Order: sequence, then C-alpha cells, then structure tokens
Amino acid sequence: MTRVLAIETSCDETSAAVLDGTGDSTSLRSLVILSQDVHRVYGGVVPELASRAHLTAIEPVTRRALAEAGADLESVDVFAATMGPGLVGALLVGVGFVKALAFARQRPLVGVHHMEGHLFATSLEHAQAVPPFTALLVSGGHTLLMDVEAWGRYRILGRTRDDAAGEAFDKVAKKLGLPYPGGPHLERLAKDGRAGRVRFTRPMLRKNQTPSDPDYYDMSFSGLKTAVVTEIGKSEIENGKSKHAADIAFAFQDALVETLVEKTARAAEQYRRDRVVLGGGVACNKTLVNAMTERMATLGANVYAPTARLATDNAAMIARAALFHFEHGRRDGLDLNAYATLAIPGLIA
Ligand code: KG4
Ligand code: ZN
Repeated sequence: MTRVLAIETSCDETSAAVLDGTGDSTSLRSLVILSQDVHRVYGGVVPELASRAHLTAIEPVTRRALAEAGADLESVDVFAATMGPGLVGALLVGVGFVKALAFARQRPLVGVHHMEGHLFATSLEHAQAVPPFTALLVSGGHTLLMDVEAWGRYRILGRTRDDAAGEAFDKVAKKLGLPYPGGPHLERLAKDGRAGRVRFTRPMLRKNQTPSDPDYYDMSFSGLKTAVVTEIGKSEIENGKSKHAADIAFAFQDALVETLVEKTARAAEQYRRDRVVLGGGVACNKTLVNAMTERMATLGANVYAPTARLATDNAAMIARAALFHFEHGRRDGLDLNAYATLAIPGLIA
C-alpha cells in the first residue's frame, strides 16, 4: 500500500487529498477543496489573485486533509502536485509546497498532468471506470475526446478548435444575464425552455464525415456562441433580459450536448469501447450525462460520470494519477517546474 498526499492549484481551487492504494484498488482518505471566491466579482479568474489566495490557503487546506485522513506527514510515502497545464503562478504554489514537503521528509515527489488527473477521477467512484475506455473531458478550459487503451497509453482523437465547452456555457450564460460561472445556471434555466422554439446548427457535425476527416472528432463552439448571441439580440427584451432566454438556453444546450454525444459515439464505435468515462466540470450537467447514457446504450456501452466534487478540479484525481506513475517508477527531482502548457504523457499515435 502506498499513501499519496497530493495538491492541486492549477486554477481557482486550492485542494489537497490523501489517497491510499495499490493499482486500481484505492481508498480516498480525505479530499479538501477550497473554491476561491475572490474571482466572482470579476466574472472570471484573475491569475495574480489566484496565486495569492493559493498561498494563504495551501497550508490550512493541507493540514485539514491530513487531519480528516487521520494521517500525519510521516505516514506519507509520496508527495504529488499538478505541474501543468494551468496558471503558472498558481501551479508554482502547489509545486513549491510539495517540493518542500518531499525535501523535508526525504520522500519521493511526482508531478502530475492536470488532464491526466481528470482521466483518473471517475475511477475513484466507479470500479468499472478503468481502461480501456473512451474519455470525454469537458471543463472551462478544455474539451478533449480521447481513447484510453490503458492507464498511461492515450490517443487524443479530438479537441475544441476554439472555445472549451464550459467556456461556451459561461459566455452564453453571461449574455443571458446569469451569474458566473454560468454553466449550472444555464442548465437550470434550460429546464424551463421549450423544444423546437429555437434551433442551432450542430457545429462540425455532419452525417457524411468520415474518420479520416480532420473535423470528424474535433469540435468548435465559438460559432455556436455567436449564433446564440445573435438570437438573443433578435429577441424581445423585458427588464433587461431576453423574453425567450429559457428557449434559447434550451436550444444552445441541446446543440452543444448533441455535438459532444455524437462525437463521443463515433470514438466509442471506432475503437469498440464498451465504456465511456466523463470528466471535467461540464460532466456535472445532467442533460449531457443522460443524453450520453441513452446514446451509448444503443452501442451497448456504459457511461460513468463522476460526482461534482470529483468532476471539477480536485486533488484526489491528482493523487490517483500520481500513484499510477509512482508505481511505474516515476520520480521527479527538486527541479520540478510548473508549465502553462504541457503535453499529456503517454500519448500514442
Ligand atoms: O473542471 P472545472 O471545475 O474547471 C476547469 O475549467 O478546469 O470546470 C468548470 C466549468 C465551468 O465552465 C462551469 O460553468 C462548468 O464547468 N459547469 C457546467 C455545469 N457545472 C459546471 N456546465 C454546464 N452544466 C453544468 N451543470
Ligand atoms: Zn480541470
């Protein structure tokens, strides 16, 4: 059994987790997530403020994670942190912190790729969410469609060419006058929308596409966002809000969800996977999860989605990915750095 203490500080969540385990048999001892509130008034994450908030939060958050796990630093076998991609100043807080711990306790150190962490998150809650599977990672910063042949062996099939799925949710929500981050608010508003009132074209989704087409798996949400903004502009405004906001929200979500679902179905079919694993904040969207589950059932595939705590940024997924790399011999030195952009390790052609 190996005990991992992991830290995640790539964006606006300060998180620490303690995980015990061997291979796919793991036990999450604790997970503490502190969501930074300071960005709310700005309607987006302010990097410098994020770094400062991580600095003040990281020590108490880590202490709390250890206390909840009933663990002390001496019992930790491996220290881990997200090393990228993300906000460099924010990442450096976590990386610097675990470097100091690893040095002080003379224990190994493992840096983790943030998106690889998301791939592991669902397996902490669903024993079947292990490779091989098709993965769809949808967050505020990323939209990635992948084939996961094994842990550490990944094929990137498609990604967004412009806005991430969550970013599209947030931008459209803002135009509809909803608070930040808008995804969950938009999903709620869409429940009051009626189908068929408004319809948006499914971006980069055509029946005659073939796997050799560059846009067979790729996605694009910025055109959809513009179409929605145009529609809002055309609609009647009452008290500063579109009278058809709910119908527009419904139609936007419908177009975005169908695009994600169909692209994922293509991947599951081509690689003959019977499992689809979702991750990232947008995986909290019930409309997406339900539509995905229904569509995959027609292919005989099961869908696994994490609960909100593990879908959004958290240190538990970083600990799980670190455990995998530690067991495969990975050791980082005290020269471990943080990177704004970083290729996922283990990519295969
Ligand atoms: O993974 P995450 O917490 O942070 C990163 O971006 O890395 O994802 C946050 C994103 C935001 O864009 C937020 O609006 C979106 O996830 N989100 C949702 C829902 N809950 C969170 N989008 C649509 N429907 C939801 N229920
Ligand atoms: Zn993330």
